[in-house]
Amino acid sequence: MKPLTDDPAAEAAGEDLNRSYEAMAHLIAVVQELSHARDLDTVQAIVRRAARALTGADGATFVLRQGDLCYYADEDAIAPLWKGKRFPMATCVSGWAMLNRQPAVIEDIYADRRVPADAYRPTFVQSLVMVPIRAAAPIGAIGNYWARRHRATSGEIKLLQALADSASIALENVALYRELTERVEELKEANRLKSQFLSNVSHELRTPLNAILGYTELLIDGTYGRLKTDQRTPLEGVQRNAGDLLRLINDVLDLTRIEAGKIEIRTEKIDLVTLLQEIFIDIQPILDQKSLALWLDIPEGLPVIESDTAKVRQILANLLSNAAKFTDQGKVMVSAEEIPHRPGVEIAIRDTGIGIPKEALPKIFERFHQVDGSATREFGGVGLGLSIVKELVGLLGGEIRVESEVGNGSTFTLFLPCR
Ligand SMILES: Nc1ncnc2c1ncn2[C@@H]1O[C@H](COP(=O)(O)OP(=O)(O)O)[C@@H](O)[C@H]1O
Ligand SMILES: [Mg+2]
Repeated sequence: MKPLTDDPAAEAAGEDLNRSYEAMAHLIAVVQELSHARDLDTVQAIVRRAARALTGADGATFVLRQGDLCYYADEDAIAPLWKGKRFPMATCVSGWAMLNRQPAVIEDIYADRRVPADAYRPTFVQSLVMVPIRAAAPIGAIGNYWARRHRATSGEIKLLQALADSASIALENVALYRELTERVEELKEANRLKSQFLSNVSHELRTPLNAILGYTELLIDGTYGRLKTDQRTPLEGVQRNAGDLLRLINDVLDLTRIEAGKIEIRTEKIDLVTLLQEIFIDIQPILDQKSLALWLDIPEGLPVIESDTAKVRQILANLLSNAAKFTDQGKVMVSAEEIPHRPGVEIAIRDTGIGIPKEALPKIFERFHQVDGSATREFGGVGLGLSIVKELVGLLGGEIRVESEVGNGSTFTLFLPCR
Protein backbone atom coordinates (compact mmCIF):
# COMPACT_ATOMS: atom_id res chain seq x y z
CA MET A 1 0.00 0.00 0.00
CA LYS A 2 1.25 3.48 -0.87
CA PRO A 3 1.88 5.62 2.21
CA LEU A 4 -0.49 8.59 2.48
CA THR A 5 2.40 10.88 3.27
CA ASP A 6 6.10 10.96 2.62
CA ASP A 7 6.87 12.39 6.03
CA PRO A 8 7.97 9.44 8.23
CA ALA A 9 7.29 11.34 11.49
CA ALA A 10 3.73 12.15 10.45
CA GLU A 11 3.24 8.57 9.35
CA ALA A 12 4.39 7.24 12.73
CA ALA A 13 2.08 9.67 14.52
CA GLY A 14 -0.79 8.48 12.31
CA GLU A 15 -0.09 4.86 13.22
CA ASP A 16 0.00 5.75 16.91
CA LEU A 17 -3.36 7.39 16.59
CA ASN A 18 -4.76 4.36 14.80
CA ARG A 19 -3.48 2.09 17.53
CA SER A 20 -5.01 4.13 20.28
CA TYR A 21 -8.35 4.26 18.45
CA GLU A 22 -8.27 0.49 18.14
CA ALA A 23 -7.35 0.13 21.81
CA MET A 24 -10.22 2.44 22.75
CA ALA A 25 -12.71 0.47 20.68
CA HIS A 26 -11.42 -2.73 22.26
CA LEU A 27 -11.69 -1.23 25.74
CA ILE A 28 -15.29 -0.17 25.14
CA ALA A 29 -16.18 -3.69 23.98
CA VAL A 30 -14.55 -5.12 27.11
CA VAL A 31 -16.36 -2.69 29.39
CA GLN A 32 -19.64 -3.74 27.79
CA GLU A 33 -18.80 -7.40 28.19
CA LEU A 34 -17.87 -6.81 31.84
CA SER A 35 -21.17 -5.08 32.52
CA HIS A 36 -22.99 -8.32 31.72
CA ALA A 37 -20.79 -10.54 33.88
CA ARG A 38 -22.70 -12.16 36.75
CA ASP A 39 -19.97 -14.29 38.36
CA LEU A 40 -16.34 -14.04 39.32
CA ASP A 41 -15.20 -16.66 36.79
CA THR A 42 -16.59 -14.61 33.93
CA VAL A 43 -15.01 -11.36 35.17
CA GLN A 44 -11.73 -13.18 35.60
CA ALA A 45 -11.81 -14.65 32.10
CA ILE A 46 -12.64 -11.29 30.50
CA VAL A 47 -9.97 -9.37 32.43
CA ARG A 48 -7.26 -11.97 31.82
CA ARG A 49 -7.82 -11.92 28.06
CA ALA A 50 -8.32 -8.17 27.78
CA ALA A 51 -5.36 -7.21 29.97
CA ARG A 52 -2.97 -8.86 27.56
CA ALA A 53 -4.74 -8.05 24.31
CA LEU A 54 -5.23 -4.34 25.11
CA THR A 55 -1.50 -3.60 25.42
CA GLY A 56 -0.09 -6.44 23.36
CA ALA A 57 2.00 -7.55 26.32
CA ASP A 58 3.53 -11.06 26.57
CA GLY A 59 1.53 -11.92 29.65
CA ALA A 60 -1.15 -10.70 32.04
CA THR A 61 -2.24 -11.69 35.53
CA PHE A 62 -5.39 -11.06 37.50
CA VAL A 63 -4.66 -10.84 41.21
CA LEU A 64 -7.20 -10.76 44.05
CA ARG A 65 -6.50 -9.60 47.55
CA GLN A 66 -7.29 -12.20 50.19
CA GLY A 67 -6.59 -10.60 53.55
CA ASP A 68 -2.79 -10.33 53.83
CA LEU A 69 -2.23 -12.41 50.74
CA CYS A 70 -2.18 -11.77 47.01
CA TYR A 71 -3.93 -14.55 45.15
CA TYR A 72 -2.84 -14.95 41.51
CA ALA A 73 -6.30 -15.98 40.36
CA ASP A 74 -5.76 -16.10 36.63
CA GLU A 75 -3.30 -15.43 33.84
CA ASP A 76 -2.84 -15.34 30.10
CA ALA A 77 0.79 -15.47 28.99
CA ILE A 78 3.30 -16.96 26.55
CA ALA A 79 4.56 -19.21 29.39
CA PRO A 80 3.30 -20.05 32.90
CA LEU A 81 3.50 -17.39 35.60
CA TRP A 82 2.01 -17.93 39.07
CA LYS A 83 -1.60 -18.95 38.53
CA GLY A 84 -3.17 -20.42 41.70
CA LYS A 85 -0.33 -19.23 43.97
CA ARG A 86 -0.56 -16.94 46.98
CA PHE A 87 2.14 -14.52 48.20
CA PRO A 88 2.24 -12.19 51.21
CA MET A 89 1.15 -8.65 50.36
CA ALA A 90 4.42 -7.26 51.68
CA THR A 91 6.69 -9.27 49.37
CA CYS A 92 5.17 -9.04 45.90
CA VAL A 93 4.63 -6.30 43.36
CA SER A 94 0.83 -6.68 43.25
CA GLY A 95 0.87 -6.24 47.04
CA TRP A 96 2.95 -3.09 46.65
CA ALA A 97 0.52 -1.66 44.06
CA MET A 98 -2.44 -2.38 46.33
CA LEU A 99 -0.83 -1.12 49.55
CA ASN A 100 0.44 2.06 47.84
CA ARG A 101 -2.73 2.46 45.77
CA GLN A 102 -0.75 3.27 42.64
CA PRO A 103 0.69 1.52 39.59
CA ALA A 104 4.12 -0.11 39.85
CA VAL A 105 6.09 0.42 36.63
CA ILE A 106 9.22 -1.75 36.54
CA GLU A 107 11.48 -1.75 33.53
CA ASP A 108 14.13 -4.13 34.87
CA ILE A 109 12.81 -6.56 37.42
CA TYR A 110 16.27 -7.53 38.62
CA ALA A 111 17.11 -3.92 39.44
CA ASP A 112 14.04 -3.14 41.53
CA ARG A 113 13.89 -3.85 45.25
CA ARG A 114 10.09 -4.31 45.19
CA VAL A 115 10.50 -7.45 43.07
CA PRO A 116 11.19 -10.83 44.75
CA ALA A 117 13.69 -11.90 42.06
CA ASP A 118 13.57 -15.59 43.01
CA ALA A 119 9.91 -15.80 42.13
CA TYR A 120 10.65 -14.32 38.72
CA ARG A 121 13.75 -16.30 37.77
CA PRO A 122 11.79 -19.32 36.41
CA THR A 123 9.61 -17.01 34.28
CA PHE A 124 10.12 -15.13 31.02
CA VAL A 125 9.50 -11.76 32.64
CA GLN A 126 11.92 -8.84 32.11
CA SER A 127 9.62 -5.88 32.62
CA LEU A 128 6.22 -5.33 34.13
CA VAL A 129 3.49 -2.94 35.14
CA MET A 130 0.95 -3.62 37.90
CA VAL A 131 -2.17 -1.50 38.49
CA PRO A 132 -4.44 -1.73 41.52
CA ILE A 133 -8.16 -2.53 41.12
CA ARG A 134 -10.24 0.14 42.90
CA ALA A 135 -7.79 2.84 43.90
CA ALA A 136 -9.63 3.91 47.08
CA ALA A 137 -9.39 0.52 48.77
CA PRO A 138 -7.80 -1.99 46.39
CA ILE A 139 -9.38 -5.42 46.11
CA GLY A 140 -6.95 -6.75 43.54
CA ALA A 141 -4.51 -5.86 40.79
CA ILE A 142 -3.89 -6.41 37.11
CA GLY A 143 -0.37 -7.09 35.84
CA ASN A 144 1.25 -6.90 32.41
CA TYR A 145 4.58 -8.58 31.62
CA TRP A 146 7.13 -8.36 28.83
CA ALA A 147 9.80 -10.87 27.83
CA ARG A 148 11.98 -8.00 26.57
CA ARG A 149 12.99 -4.86 28.37
CA HIS A 150 10.15 -2.41 28.07
CA ARG A 151 9.03 0.58 30.05
CA ALA A 152 5.24 0.62 30.13
CA THR A 153 4.05 3.78 28.37
CA SER A 154 1.58 6.16 29.94
CA GLY A 155 -0.94 5.04 27.29
CA GLU A 156 -0.56 1.41 28.35
CA ILE A 157 -0.89 2.29 32.02
CA LYS A 158 -4.02 4.33 31.34
CA LEU A 159 -5.59 1.45 29.40
CA LEU A 160 -4.83 -1.01 32.19
CA GLN A 161 -6.14 1.42 34.79
CA ALA A 162 -9.36 1.85 32.80
CA LEU A 163 -9.68 -1.92 32.63
CA ALA A 164 -9.06 -2.16 36.38
CA ASP A 165 -11.76 0.44 37.06
CA SER A 166 -14.30 -1.49 34.99
CA ALA A 167 -13.25 -4.75 36.64
CA SER A 168 -13.82 -3.14 40.01
CA ILE A 169 -17.38 -2.19 39.09
CA ALA A 170 -17.95 -5.64 37.60
CA LEU A 171 -16.70 -7.28 40.81
CA GLU A 172 -19.01 -5.13 42.88
CA ASN A 173 -21.89 -6.12 40.60
CA VAL A 174 -20.99 -9.77 41.01
CA ALA A 175 -21.09 -9.41 44.81
CA LEU A 176 -24.40 -7.56 44.68
CA TYR A 177 -25.87 -10.06 42.29
CA ARG A 178 -24.83 -12.97 44.47
CA GLU A 179 -26.29 -11.31 47.54
CA LEU A 180 -29.50 -10.62 45.68
CA THR A 181 -29.88 -14.19 44.44
CA GLU A 182 -29.27 -15.48 47.95
CA ARG A 183 -31.90 -13.10 49.34
CA VAL A 184 -34.40 -14.18 46.70
CA GLU A 185 -33.79 -17.83 47.53
CA GLU A 186 -34.19 -17.14 51.25
CA LEU A 187 -37.39 -15.23 50.61
CA LYS A 188 -38.77 -18.00 48.43
CA GLU A 189 -38.07 -20.54 51.15
CA ALA A 190 -39.57 -18.29 53.84
CA ASN A 191 -42.63 -17.81 51.66
CA ARG A 192 -42.97 -21.53 51.11
CA LEU A 193 -42.73 -22.18 54.85
CA LYS A 194 -45.27 -19.47 55.55
CA SER A 195 -47.73 -20.95 53.07
CA GLN A 196 -47.21 -24.40 54.52
CA PHE A 197 -47.73 -23.06 58.02
CA LEU A 198 -50.89 -21.17 57.07
CA SER A 199 -52.24 -24.19 55.32
CA ASN A 200 -51.60 -26.45 58.32
CA VAL A 201 -53.01 -23.99 60.82
CA SER A 202 -56.12 -23.35 58.74
CA HIS A 203 -56.68 -27.04 58.44
CA GLU A 204 -56.38 -27.57 62.17
CA LEU A 205 -58.68 -24.62 62.90
CA ARG A 206 -61.42 -25.91 60.67
CA THR A 207 -62.02 -29.12 62.56
CA PRO A 208 -63.00 -27.63 65.96
CA LEU A 209 -64.86 -24.83 64.23
CA ASN A 210 -67.02 -27.28 62.34
CA ALA A 211 -67.83 -28.95 65.66
CA ILE A 212 -68.86 -25.57 67.13
CA LEU A 213 -71.05 -24.88 64.11
CA GLY A 214 -72.56 -28.35 64.25
CA TYR A 215 -73.45 -28.21 67.96
CA THR A 216 -74.80 -24.68 67.65
CA GLU A 217 -77.08 -25.74 64.86
CA LEU A 218 -78.33 -28.69 66.91
CA LEU A 219 -78.96 -26.35 69.85
CA ILE A 220 -80.86 -23.88 67.70
CA ASP A 221 -82.89 -26.68 66.16
CA GLY A 222 -83.95 -27.80 69.63
CA THR A 223 -82.24 -31.19 69.52
CA TYR A 224 -81.08 -30.69 73.12
CA GLY A 225 -84.42 -29.35 74.30
CA ARG A 226 -86.54 -26.33 73.56
CA LEU A 227 -84.68 -23.02 73.74
CA LYS A 228 -85.85 -20.25 76.01
CA THR A 229 -86.73 -17.14 73.96
CA ASP A 230 -83.72 -15.14 75.17
CA GLN A 231 -81.33 -17.96 74.32
CA ARG A 232 -81.92 -17.95 70.59
CA THR A 233 -80.34 -14.56 69.76
CA PRO A 234 -76.96 -15.20 71.43
CA LEU A 235 -76.82 -18.66 69.87
CA GLU A 236 -77.48 -17.18 66.45
CA GLY A 237 -74.66 -14.76 67.21
CA VAL A 238 -72.38 -17.71 67.88
CA GLN A 239 -73.49 -19.30 64.63
CA ARG A 240 -72.96 -16.13 62.59
CA ASN A 241 -69.54 -15.41 64.02
CA ALA A 242 -68.37 -18.99 63.70
CA GLY A 243 -69.57 -18.88 60.10
CA ASP A 244 -67.53 -15.72 59.45
CA LEU A 245 -64.51 -17.38 60.97
CA LEU A 246 -64.95 -20.45 58.82
CA ARG A 247 -65.20 -18.31 55.69
CA LEU A 248 -62.02 -16.49 56.68
CA ILE A 249 -60.18 -19.75 57.26
CA ASN A 250 -61.41 -21.09 53.94
CA ASP A 251 -60.17 -17.92 52.22
CA VAL A 252 -56.73 -18.33 53.72
CA LEU A 253 -56.67 -21.98 52.72
CA ASP A 254 -57.76 -21.08 49.19
CA LEU A 255 -55.02 -18.53 48.84
CA THR A 256 -52.32 -20.87 50.08
CA ARG A 257 -53.55 -23.56 47.70
CA ILE A 258 -53.53 -21.15 44.78
CA GLU A 259 -50.05 -19.97 45.75
CA ALA A 260 -48.79 -23.51 45.93
CA GLY A 261 -50.27 -24.15 42.47
CA LYS A 262 -52.45 -26.88 43.97
CA ILE A 263 -55.69 -25.77 42.38
CA GLU A 264 -57.23 -27.89 39.66
CA ILE A 265 -59.53 -26.53 37.02
CA ARG A 266 -62.53 -28.52 35.87
CA THR A 267 -64.31 -27.02 32.91
CA GLU A 268 -67.93 -27.50 32.00
CA LYS A 269 -70.67 -25.49 30.33
CA ILE A 270 -71.84 -22.78 32.69
CA ASP A 271 -75.41 -21.61 33.02
CA LEU A 272 -74.78 -18.07 34.12
CA VAL A 273 -78.35 -17.16 35.04
CA THR A 274 -78.85 -20.17 37.30
CA LEU A 275 -75.45 -19.63 38.87
CA LEU A 276 -76.22 -15.99 39.63
CA GLN A 277 -79.61 -16.85 41.07
CA GLU A 278 -77.99 -19.32 43.45
CA ILE A 279 -75.57 -16.64 44.60
CA PHE A 280 -78.40 -14.15 45.06
CA ILE A 281 -80.02 -16.47 47.57
CA ASP A 282 -76.93 -16.17 49.76
CA ILE A 283 -76.71 -12.38 49.67
CA GLN A 284 -80.45 -11.72 49.81
CA PRO A 285 -80.48 -11.38 53.64
CA ILE A 286 -77.91 -8.56 53.49
CA LEU A 287 -79.81 -6.81 50.71
CA ASP A 288 -83.09 -7.12 52.61
CA GLN A 289 -81.58 -5.78 55.80
CA LYS A 290 -80.58 -2.55 54.01
CA SER A 291 -83.53 -2.51 51.59
CA LEU A 292 -81.22 -2.61 48.59
CA ALA A 293 -82.68 -3.43 45.19
CA LEU A 294 -81.11 -6.09 43.01
CA TRP A 295 -81.19 -5.75 39.25
CA LEU A 296 -80.25 -8.45 36.83
CA ASP A 297 -79.79 -7.80 33.13
CA ILE A 298 -78.70 -10.79 31.13
CA PRO A 299 -79.69 -10.80 27.46
CA GLU A 300 -80.80 -13.90 25.57
CA GLY A 301 -78.32 -15.54 23.28
CA LEU A 302 -75.13 -14.85 25.19
CA PRO A 303 -72.30 -17.15 24.14
CA VAL A 304 -72.02 -20.22 26.37
CA ILE A 305 -68.85 -20.22 28.40
CA GLU A 306 -67.00 -23.30 29.46
CA SER A 307 -65.18 -22.74 32.69
CA ASP A 308 -64.84 -23.96 36.27
CA THR A 309 -68.28 -23.45 37.85
CA ALA A 310 -67.09 -23.50 41.46
CA LYS A 311 -64.44 -20.86 40.75
CA VAL A 312 -66.74 -18.61 38.76
CA ARG A 313 -69.22 -18.92 41.62
CA GLN A 314 -66.54 -17.93 44.13
CA ILE A 315 -65.52 -14.92 42.03
CA LEU A 316 -69.07 -13.66 41.54
CA ALA A 317 -70.04 -14.33 45.16
CA ASN A 318 -67.08 -12.29 46.37
CA LEU A 319 -67.84 -9.37 44.07
CA LEU A 320 -71.55 -9.44 44.92
CA SER A 321 -71.01 -9.67 48.64
CA ASN A 322 -68.63 -6.69 48.44
CA ALA A 323 -71.20 -4.74 46.43
CA ALA A 324 -73.86 -5.49 49.07
CA LYS A 325 -71.51 -4.86 51.98
CA PHE A 326 -70.23 -1.48 50.83
CA THR A 327 -73.62 -0.11 49.75
CA ASP A 328 -76.08 1.44 52.21
CA GLN A 329 -78.75 2.62 49.86
CA GLY A 330 -79.66 2.22 46.24
CA LYS A 331 -79.04 -0.95 44.32
CA VAL A 332 -76.73 -3.66 43.14
CA MET A 333 -76.86 -4.42 39.42
CA VAL A 334 -75.51 -7.36 37.52
CA SER A 335 -75.35 -7.31 33.75
CA ALA A 336 -73.64 -9.45 31.16
CA GLU A 337 -72.84 -8.93 27.51
CA GLU A 338 -70.89 -10.26 24.61
CA ILE A 339 -68.10 -7.98 23.51
CA PRO A 340 -66.99 -7.57 19.90
CA HIS A 341 -63.95 -9.45 18.57
CA ARG A 342 -63.40 -11.37 21.78
CA PRO A 343 -64.88 -14.77 22.38
CA GLY A 344 -66.23 -14.55 25.89
CA VAL A 345 -68.63 -12.75 28.18
CA GLU A 346 -68.22 -9.58 30.17
CA ILE A 347 -70.05 -9.44 33.47
CA ALA A 348 -70.43 -6.12 35.28
CA ILE A 349 -71.27 -5.84 38.95
CA ARG A 350 -72.32 -2.31 39.77
CA ASP A 351 -73.30 -0.77 43.06
CA THR A 352 -74.38 2.64 44.33
CA GLY A 353 -72.25 2.36 47.44
CA ILE A 354 -69.44 4.26 49.12
CA GLY A 355 -67.02 3.93 46.20
CA ILE A 356 -63.24 3.61 46.33
CA PRO A 357 -60.76 6.50 46.34
CA LYS A 358 -58.68 6.71 43.17
CA GLU A 359 -55.38 6.19 44.96
CA ALA A 360 -56.65 2.99 46.58
CA LEU A 361 -57.84 1.39 43.33
CA PRO A 362 -54.53 -0.24 42.35
CA LYS A 363 -54.17 -1.71 45.83
CA ILE A 364 -57.53 -3.28 46.59
CA PHE A 365 -56.59 -6.54 44.84
CA GLU A 366 -53.61 -6.96 47.13
CA ARG A 367 -53.86 -9.40 49.96
CA PHE A 368 -55.19 -7.95 53.23
CA HIS A 369 -55.62 -4.52 51.68
CA GLN A 370 -58.70 -2.67 52.80
CA VAL A 371 -59.46 0.98 52.11
CA ASP A 372 -60.40 1.25 55.74
CA GLY A 373 -58.06 -1.10 57.53
CA SER A 374 -58.46 0.48 60.95
CA ALA A 375 -59.50 -1.49 64.00
CA THR A 376 -62.60 0.68 64.23
CA ARG A 377 -63.70 0.02 60.65
CA GLU A 378 -67.36 -0.13 59.89
CA PHE A 379 -67.30 -3.17 57.59
CA GLY A 380 -66.29 -6.73 58.42
CA GLY A 381 -63.84 -8.84 56.46
CA VAL A 382 -60.08 -9.11 56.37
CA GLY A 383 -59.27 -8.03 52.83
CA LEU A 384 -58.67 -11.40 51.20
CA GLY A 385 -61.72 -11.59 48.93
CA LEU A 386 -60.44 -9.54 46.02
CA SER A 387 -56.99 -11.12 46.06
CA ILE A 388 -58.65 -14.52 45.74
CA VAL A 389 -60.84 -13.13 42.97
CA LYS A 390 -57.81 -11.87 41.11
CA GLU A 391 -55.93 -15.16 41.40
CA LEU A 392 -58.94 -17.17 40.30
CA VAL A 393 -59.70 -14.88 37.36
CA GLY A 394 -56.08 -15.32 36.27
CA LEU A 395 -56.36 -19.11 36.56
CA LEU A 396 -59.44 -19.07 34.35
CA GLY A 397 -57.72 -16.95 31.72
CA GLY A 398 -59.98 -13.97 32.39
CA GLU A 399 -59.52 -10.36 33.36
CA ILE A 400 -60.94 -8.05 35.95
CA ARG A 401 -61.00 -4.29 36.19
CA VAL A 402 -62.63 -1.75 38.44
CA GLU A 403 -63.98 1.75 38.07
CA SER A 404 -65.21 3.71 41.01
CA GLU A 405 -66.09 7.10 42.31
CA VAL A 406 -66.23 7.96 45.97
CA GLY A 407 -69.84 8.44 47.06
CA ASN A 408 -71.25 7.21 43.76
CA GLY A 409 -70.48 3.53 43.67
CA SER A 410 -68.20 1.02 42.03
CA THR A 411 -68.25 -1.21 38.96
CA PHE A 412 -66.24 -4.40 38.81
CA THR A 413 -66.07 -5.78 35.28
CA LEU A 414 -65.13 -9.39 34.79
CA PHE A 415 -64.23 -10.90 31.45
CA LEU A 416 -64.43 -14.66 31.09
CA PRO A 417 -63.23 -16.32 27.90
CA CYS A 418 -65.50 -18.85 26.15
CA ARG A 419 -63.07 -21.60 27.07
N1 LIG B 1 -67.95 -2.71 45.88
C1 LIG B 1 -67.08 -2.06 46.65
N2 LIG B 1 -67.31 -0.80 47.05
C2 LIG B 1 -66.43 -0.12 47.83
N3 LIG B 1 -65.24 -0.64 48.24
C3 LIG B 1 -64.94 -1.88 47.87
C4 LIG B 1 -65.83 -2.66 47.06
N4 LIG B 1 -65.25 -3.86 46.84
C5 LIG B 1 -64.07 -3.83 47.50
N5 LIG B 1 -63.87 -2.64 48.11
C6 LIG B 1 -62.69 -2.22 48.88
O1 LIG B 1 -61.65 -3.17 48.64
C7 LIG B 1 -61.23 -3.75 49.87
C8 LIG B 1 -60.80 -5.17 49.65
O2 LIG B 1 -61.90 -5.99 49.33
P1 LIG B 1 -61.85 -7.53 49.74
O3 LIG B 1 -60.56 -8.08 49.27
O4 LIG B 1 -63.10 -8.18 49.26
O5 LIG B 1 -61.76 -7.49 51.31
P2 LIG B 1 -62.87 -7.35 52.43
O6 LIG B 1 -64.22 -7.43 51.77
O7 LIG B 1 -62.61 -8.49 53.35
O8 LIG B 1 -62.61 -6.02 53.09
C9 LIG B 1 -62.40 -3.58 50.80
O9 LIG B 1 -61.98 -3.57 52.14
C10 LIG B 1 -62.93 -2.22 50.37
O10 LIG B 1 -62.18 -1.20 50.96
MG1 LIG C 1 -64.78 -8.91 50.40
